[in-house]
Amino acid sequence: MVSTRRSTPEDMVPFFETMSLQFSFDLPEDDEQVAAWKKRNLETGGIERGMVAEDDGHIVGTLGSFDLDMTVPGGSVPCAGTTWVSVAPSHRRRGVLRKLMNAHLSEAVEHGDVIAALWASDSAIYGRFGYGRAVESVAIDLNRPMARFRESAPIPERIEMITKEEAAGMLPPLYDRIRREIPGTFARTQPWWEYRQLRDPPDRRNGRSALRIAVSSEPDGHTTGYVMFQVERQFDGAHSDDIVHVVELFGSTPGSWSALWSLVLGLDLATQVKGAFRPLDDPLFEFVNGVRRVERTLTDTVWVRVLDVERALTSRIYGQPGALTITITDAMGIANGTYRLEWDGHRINCAGTSGPADLVIDVAYLGAAMLGRPSFSAAALAGTIGGSLEAAALADRIFGHPRSPYCPEVF
Ligand SMILES: CC(C)(COP(=O)(O)OP(=O)(O)OC[C@H]1O[C@@H](n2cnc3c(N)ncnc32)[C@H](O)[C@@H]1OP(=O)(O)O)[C@@H](O)C(=O)NCCC(=O)NCCS
Repeated sequence: MVSTRRSTPEDMVPFFETMSLQFSFDLPEDDEQVAAWKKRNLETGGIERGMVAEDDGHIVGTLGSFDLDMTVPGGSVPCAGTTWVSVAPSHRRRGVLRKLMNAHLSEAVEHGDVIAALWASDSAIYGRFGYGRAVESVAIDLNRPMARFRESAPIPERIEMITKEEAAGMLPPLYDRIRREIPGTFARTQPWWEYRQLRDPPDRRNGRSALRIAVSSEPDGHTTGYVMFQVERQFDGAHSDDIVHVVELFGSTPGSWSALWSLVLGLDLATQVKGAFRPLDDPLFEFVNGVRRVERTLTDTVWVRVLDVERALTSRIYGQPGALTITITDAMGIANGTYRLEWDGHRINCAGTSGPADLVIDVAYLGAAMLGRPSFSAAALAGTIGGSLEAAALADRIFGHPRSPYCPEVF
């Protein structure tokens, strides 16, 4: 009989051993490496609010949970960052994931989280647990010799290369300023920066260079953006065809975006620039002379699950004034109800009501809309939500936000 319980730091090795079977990684072997790995995992979190499924005392399923503060339009909310989901091959399709999810979401509600969010490795799994597709990104592959900066691109701000040690001091406050404007990003702790963003040992580089880091700034020295990238050297003895991999690039002013992309596109020995996850509204697409020179592959990234409807809806701002009554159905019994939402352009009112609903939606559609990129019209067209096309269109305008939601990192 499989049962679930909260995971503890003592579970760290068997927890990750179970997970390593699905995600094809190896645990460190010597004592010193194991101690450092445990320390990193404890400091960045995930295990103490996680869950394990056990069969006869053996861990057969894992689920981690990070304590995140996630940006939503106009604010931020406490969010359970669902992660490290795995079930042993011997125990597949017997409801173990479902048990882990039930335990995880109950714990998140008890903890006071307003939403849960995850980065799905497979987009077919999580809708049934109430997670909706809230963020989409593009993988970019740019042919550097063909893609030139348009003359109308803004004058680049000042840019300078910095060391990793300098980055450890400069990037956290800069990122924290920038991320408040971008729904889908989340606050990073000091260990998160140290171990997940800036840790760059040679055995994790996959044939690429060490991290290169640059910051942009205004004439008064105020920092405005940064880029972290690696270069994959490709030299056949006669020609260089290096590939630049953009790890993270954030501007906050037109001049900073233009400075950071000019730097990346100005690396003469490179013929290709790649970025695994770029925002849909990356100014790069405005800067290049012919957007088709940037090959873009769309993918869903972050999925959001609403846990507390009233707190979720009152924690954000909206795209236009309006009122809607929405019935939410939730097969897991967490967020069911009918809610009246009224936004006058400044204040939001949200409360349970018994009035007739304009829309009837699964909770996953609310999660998908939480970060500002709703899909109510598409769902009404497909007949997967209840309500008129007019009501769905109004909901799209109310829930919409000008900035594309974005999350730069897999968690
Ligand atoms: C995905 C995984 C966690 C599922 O675990 P599981 O214990 O077999 O899942 P359950 O038996 O609890 O299934 C729960 C539901 O999910 C569905 N499901 C499970 N795996 C699925 C998959 N890969 N694709 C689509 N649906 C899936 C089941 O059909 C079931 O649906 P239902 O309850 O609506 O009938 C497991 O197969 C695994 O570890 N895979 C490799 C790692 C991975 O992909 N993890 C996800 C990381 S984000």
